[in-house]
Amino acid sequence: MKSNLVALMIASGALAMSGAALAGDAAAGEKKAEMCMDCHEPAEDFADLSADEIAGKINTIVAGQFKHQKKLTLSDADVADIAAYFAAADGK
Ligand code: HEC
Repeated sequence: MKSNLVALMIASGALAMSGAALAGDAAAGEKKAEMCMDCHEPAEDFADLSADEIAGKINTIVAGQFKHQKKLTLSDADVADIAAYFAAADGK
């Protein structure tokens, strides 16, 4: 199931646009996102974005398509969890 999604996302070449994001676990994401908090305030930086949209943005960073201040090495599950946490942090 998970590998199917990954294959689909790679095949489509559209990580940022993908609506096929894994369902994230916001509670797990809170811990994983601790390293992001030095620089990010989720309720401000990711306001108005859905978990899918945030996951898409994080994936562009992980894939090296967006020049980010800090190199991110995250699994698909990490991205989904962090995105769920960020999305929840802004009340969406
Ligand atoms: C050392 C500081 C720093 C850390 C740590 C950091 N970021 Fe960032 N991040 C930035 C800065 C600065 C920007 C704005 C870059 C820009 O817009 O040019 C940014 C932008 C982003 C964006 C928006 C990209 C876009 O397409 O607009 C996302 C998503 C993001 N960071 C996710 C994360 C996640 C997830 C983590 C933790 C795993 C993280 N960042 C940790 C500094 C950091």
